[in-house]
Amino acid sequence: MSNNREHFNTQIGFILACVGSAVGLGNLWLFPWRLGQYGGAAFLIPYLLFVYLIGVTGLMGEYGLGRMTGKGPMGAYDHVLRKRGFLFGRTMGTYPVIITFLITIFYSVVTAWVVRYVWEAIFPSFLDKPDFGAHFNELFETSPAIIWLGVCLLIIGLILGRGVTKGIEGINRIIMPALFLVLLIMIVRSATLPGAGKGFEYLLSPDWSQLTKPITWAMALGQAFFSVSLMGAAMVVYGSYLSRDTDVPYSSFLTASFDTVAALAAALVIIPAVFAFGIDPAAGPPLVFVTMPEVFKNMPGGYIFSMMFFVGVLFAAISSLMSIMEVVVDGFMDQFNTSRKFSVAIVATLAFILGIPLAVDLDNLSLIVDFVSIYLMPIGAVLAGVVFFAINPISETRNEINVGSKYPVGKWWEPIARYIFIGVSLLVVILQMLYQVG
Ligand code: TRP
Repeated sequence: MSNNREHFNTQIGFILACVGSAVGLGNLWLFPWRLGQYGGAAFLIPYLLFVYLIGVTGLMGEYGLGRMTGKGPMGAYDHVLRKRGFLFGRTMGTYPVIITFLITIFYSVVTAWVVRYVWEAIFPSFLDKPDFGAHFNELFETSPAIIWLGVCLLIIGLILGRGVTKGIEGINRIIMPALFLVLLIMIVRSATLPGAGKGFEYLLSPDWSQLTKPITWAMALGQAFFSVSLMGAAMVVYGSYLSRDTDVPYSSFLTASFDTVAALAAALVIIPAVFAFGIDPAAGPPLVFVTMPEVFKNMPGGYIFSMMFFVGVLFAAISSLMSIMEVVVDGFMDQFNTSRKFSVAIVATLAFILGIPLAVDLDNLSLIVDFVSIYLMPIGAVLAGVVFFAINPISETRNEINVGSKYPVGKWWEPIARYIFIGVSLLVVILQMLYQVG
C-alpha cells in the first residue's frame, strides 16, 4: 500500500534521480546525431520549444499523477478512471509497463556495450586497436555479447534491489554530479583541439530549410519525449516516491533544463572533436562507439580522456536504465505482491533471456529500437496526458501539481496541458507513423 511505500529522502535527491533518468543515451548518443541530421542549430528551435512547452508540462503531469496516487501507471490510471466510473484503468496502465519492459531489453543491450567499453578503456592498450569499426562488430559475437549483457543486468539488479533511497537516490547523488563534471572537462578538451573551430562553425551554421519539413518537427518532439523520459512510466513511478512537500513545477523545470544542458554539452564534446579529425558527424549510431575512440586514438592524453568519456556515458546509461527497469519491477510487485528483491531478480532474468537475440544481431536491435521509440512510446505519453489532463478534471490536476510549490502554475496552464499537450503529441504520433514507414 502507498503508506509504506518508500520515499525519496530529499528534494535534491529526487531531482538528481530524475535528471539521471532523463540524461541518458538519448542525450549523448542520439542528440548530437539528430542535430547533425536535421539542420544543426536550426533543430534547436523546435527542440527547445517542445522541451519547455510539452516536456515540462508532461513532467508535471507525470510527477503529479504519481505523487497523488502513490502508484505506478497501473494503480495510478485505475485510481483516476475508477472515480469516473471506468474500470479499465489498470488494463490501460499495463500498456506503459509492457512497453517499458521492451525498452529495458534494448537499453540493457546498449548499456552492456558501454560497460564493456569502460572495462576495455581501463587498459592503455584499448586505443591500440587498428580499427574500431571492426571492434564494433565484435560486440555481436555470441559469447561475449551474452556475458556483458549479464554483467550489465547484474549491476542494475544489485542497485535496484537496494531500494529507492539506498539504491536509486544514493547512486544518482554520486554519479550525476560526476557526469556533469566529466562533460565540462571534455568540452574544454574538445574545444582546444586544433581544427575544432570547424565543428563550432558547423554547429552554428543552421540549415533553416530543415524547418520547413514536417519530419524535422516530428523528430524534434520524439527526441524531446524520449530525452525527458516521458511516456507515462518512469516519471510516474519516480513521482510516486515523492512526499507532498516536493515542488513539482520547479522539479519539472529543473529536470528538463539539466537534460537540455547535457544534450548540448554532448554535442559540444562530440562535434568539434569529430571535425578536428575530419570525420563525418552524421555518422549515426557508431558515433559514440566507433568515431569517438578513433578521435581519442589521435588526441593528446587520449587514454585518460577516453576512460573519462566512457565512464561518463556509463553513468548516463545506468542511471536511465535504473529508472526504466524500476517501472517494470514496480509493476511486477504491484501485480503479484512479491518482494522487491524477488521482482528485480525475475525482471532482470527475463530481460537477459529476451535480450540475447538483440545482443547478437544489430539488425534485430535497430528494428526493435525504431519500432518502440517511434511508434509505441509516444502513445504512452499521450495516454498519460489523456488520463491526467482530460479524464481527471484539469483544475484538480493543477491544484494537485501545485501542492508544496513555491512557483505554482496559474490557470493559463490548463489549456496548455489539456489542448496543446494532448493535441501536439497526438499530431506527432500520427506524423511519425506517416513519415517513418519503411
Ligand atoms: N531519457 C533517457 C535517455 O535520454 C531514456 C529513458 C529513461 C526513457 N527512462 C525512460 C525513455 C522512460 C522512455 C521512457 O536516454
